Amino acid sequence: MTSTHIDQPLRISVIGCGYLGAVHAAAMAEIGHEVVGLDVDERRVEMLSRGDAPFHEPGFGELLERNLATGRLSFGTSYADIAQCDVHFLALGTPQRGDGLGADLSHITQAMESLLPHLRERNGKRTLVVGKSTVPVGTARELSALLSELPGVELLWNPEFLREGFAVADTLTPDRLVYGVADPEQSSASEAVLDRVYARQLEQGIPRRVYNYESAELVKVSANSFLATKISFINAIAELCDITGADVADVAEAVGMDDRIGRKFLQAGIGFGGGCLPKDLRGLISRAGELGAVDSFAFLREIDTINTGRRDYALQIVRRHFSGDLNGRRITVLGAAFKPNTDDIRDSPALDVALRLLVEGAVMTITDPAAAEAVRMRHPGLTVTTSTTEALEGAEMVLLLTEWPEYRSLDPVAAAGLVTAPAILDGRNVLDLGSWRDAGWHAIGMGRR
Ligand code: UGA
Repeated sequence: MTSTHIDQPLRISVIGCGYLGAVHAAAMAEIGHEVVGLDVDERRVEMLSRGDAPFHEPGFGELLERNLATGRLSFGTSYADIAQCDVHFLALGTPQRGDGLGADLSHITQAMESLLPHLRERNGKRTLVVGKSTVPVGTARELSALLSELPGVELLWNPEFLREGFAVADTLTPDRLVYGVADPEQSSASEAVLDRVYARQLEQGIPRRVYNYESAELVKVSANSFLATKISFINAIAELCDITGADVADVAEAVGMDDRIGRKFLQAGIGFGGGCLPKDLRGLISRAGELGAVDSFAFLREIDTINTGRRDYALQIVRRHFSGDLNGRRITVLGAAFKPNTDDIRDSPALDVALRLLVEGAVMTITDPAAAEAVRMRHPGLTVTTSTTEALEGAEMVLLLTEWPEYRSLDPVAAAGLVTAPAILDGRNVLDLGSWRDAGWHAIGMGRR
C-alpha cells in the first residue's frame, strides 16, 4: 500500500492507543497527517514507538513501521506533546462498569480533564475534539458543555465501526463516516476541518452523514446491538433445529438469501463475545432504562441471555458425552480468542467454556495461533500450546470454539490418528460433519443434523 499525500495535512492527536486508537493513529499518518498517539501506558507507548504492535492485528505491524519511518507518526505519554494539534481524537475504552450494565466513562472524562488546559493554550485557534469511543447516548452533549468557555474549540462525535481482524482496512476505507454535531442545521467550520482529516476517504466516495450528537451515538450502539440480535436469533433457531432435526446451516442459508435479511451474522454456534458486542448491548439496555424506555428494551436482555446460554448449552453437550462425569477427562479446545484473526480474549466464549470445564475437573488443553500467550499469562490452570498437533495428542474430546482457518481445514483422518477418542464438538458450525464422521469421528454441531 502506498501513501497518497493529501493537500492539507493536519496535526492530529489520538488519545488512547488501544486497538481503535493505535490503528486510527497509524491510519491517519498513512493518509498524510502528522500524528501523535498518546497513552498513559508507558510500556505500550514504548512498544508502539519501536514499531512493535502490542496486539495481533493483520497488516497493523507494517502500517505502523511504515509510518514511523516517515516521521509523521510518533507516540508519547504527555499531553504537552499534543498541545499544538488541530484535531484531538478520543479513542479511549468504555468498558462495562464493575457495578452494573452501563459503560464506564472514566477514561474519557479523565482524558478530557487532562486535555482542557492545553486547549486553552491555543488562544482561539480552531481546534476540534473528536470522540470515536462508543458512549451512551447523551454523553457528547454533556462533554461539549465542558468546551463552551473555549472559543474556537468544538466537539464532534465520529463513531468507529472497525472490526478486529479487519481494523486496518475498516479504518482506511470505512463503509460510512458519521459526524455527530451539536446542531446539524447549522453548517459549522468544524465539519470542514473533519472533512480535511478524511479528505482521502471522501475523495473515494465513502458516504458521509452529519447528524446531531444523539443520532451519531445511537448509530453505533444500534449497529452493535442489531448484530448481536441477529446472532442470538439464529442461535435460538439452532436450538429448535436440535430438537426437531432441522439443520441451522440450511435455515440460515435460505433465510439469508432474502437480501432484506442477508446471510451475514447468521452463523450459529457458541455465540458472540469480545470487547464490543456484549458491553454495547448491555450499555444500551442500561441507558434505555435510565431514559424511561425499559420495557421496549427488555428483549435485549433476552438477546444477552440467549447468548450466554449458548456457552451453557455447549457445556451440556460435553457433559452428556461423558455421561455427566468430567473428572480427569482430557479435553482440547481449538481457539481461545473471541474470534479468529485477533489475540483478543475479552469475554471470549471459547475461553469461558474451557475455564468452566476446568472447574468441573476436566484436564484442559487450549490452543490458539495468536492468543496463546495472553491465555498462558492469565490462566495457569490450562495447558496452553500454539501447536494444533500437540493440542490434539491424547484428547478424549475436541471442541472447535474459535474458527481459525487452520482448524476449519483440519484433516479429520490425520486428526483421528492423534487423539485418544475421536469426538468433536464444532461450536462454530464450520466443519463438514459428514467427512469427519466418515473418518470415524463422533462429530456434533450446534443445531446441525
Ligand atoms: C464489532 C462490530 O462488528 C464492529 O462493527 C464494531 O465497530 C466493533 O464491534 C466495535 O464496536 O468496536 P468485533 O467486536 O471486532 O466488531 O467483532 P464481530 O466481528 O462483530 O464479532 C463479534 C462476535 O460475534 C464474535 O465472538 C464472533 O465469533 C461472533 N459472531 C459473529 C457469531 O457468533 N456469529 C456470527 O454470525 C458473527
